[in-house]
Amino acid sequence: MGVLVHVRNLLLALCLVLVLGFLYYSAMKLHWNSWGQDSHFVTNPFDAGGQSLGLEYDRLGFLLRLDSRLTLELNSKYTNFTEGACKPHYAATQMTAIFPRFMKPAPMFLDISFKRWARIKDFPPPFGIKGQDNIIQRILETTKEYNLTPELNSRSCKRCIVVGNGGVLANKSLGSKIDEYDVIIRLNGAPVKGYEKDVGAKTTIRITYPEGAIQKAEGYEKDSLFVFAGFKPQDFKWLKCIVYKEKVVS
Ligand SMILES: *[C@@H]1O[C@H](CO)[C@@H](O)[C@H](O)[C@H]1NC(C)=O
Ligand SMILES: *[C@@H]1O[C@H](CO)[C@@H](O)[C@H](O)[C@H]1NC(C)=O
Repeated sequence: MGVLVHVRNLLLALCLVLVLGFLYYSAMKLHWNSWGQDSHFVTNPFDAGGQSLGLEYDRLGFLLRLDSRLTLELNSKYTNFTEGACKPHYAATQMTAIFPRFMKPAPMFLDISFKRWARIKDFPPPFGIKGQDNIIQRILETTKEYNLTPELNSRSCKRCIVVGNGGVLANKSLGSKIDEYDVIIRLNGAPVKGYEKDVGAKTTIRITYPEGAIQKAEGYEKDSLFVFAGFKPQDFKWLKCIVYKEKVVS
């Protein structure tokens, strides 16, 4: 009897040690995962490496001062800041430095496999596609191309530029400089024709939402990728009407 009790106590103690060990191990894993690239765990960046770097983050986890020693990691990784040098993954690395919880929940552009991306299914637009599944499915069924050209896609490093619409480029003659980039992104109805000297002549991607879209078919560059940014449910209806040549009823 005495031996049995002893064994039971020993087993209990062992159990407890195992549970504690498991908890300790999980905590370590969580801790490390919070700094991994594909982290799905949200932890406070204050308790991780940020403190030792002297970086401060706000409540949501964004770096407070963008001019603080953010470039520590970047400098060691990207030493070549020669003009024109391509820096692979530079933008993603910088984003991770600014916002350590940064992750890519889905590919850049939705394709017909979009229902696989669980995380975007939980939120209505603009944060996800909840409630829009059927309409998106119908739009994507008839979409022939979902991506950049194979030539662009095959490059290991692409230099990208987003040309804004604020007018600062007027009379700056930066057109040829802009055209040197591999991927030139323009927004909404930004004109190119007649302004090539200042804004460049190439357009790789034109990102548009309904209110800002070019109204005439001739206005779109034949070889550019039309990227639709849907913010609200009506936006998806609008695109479906265009794709299926239906009349838009508001
Ligand atoms: C930096 O990039 C430039 C342009 O691509 C290249 O000519 C130069 O050799 C690179 N320097 C180093 C140190 O890698
Ligand atoms: C650009 O130059 C033209 C011609 O010199 C001038 O009429 C125009 O006002 C200038 N625009 C800006 C924004 O400086």
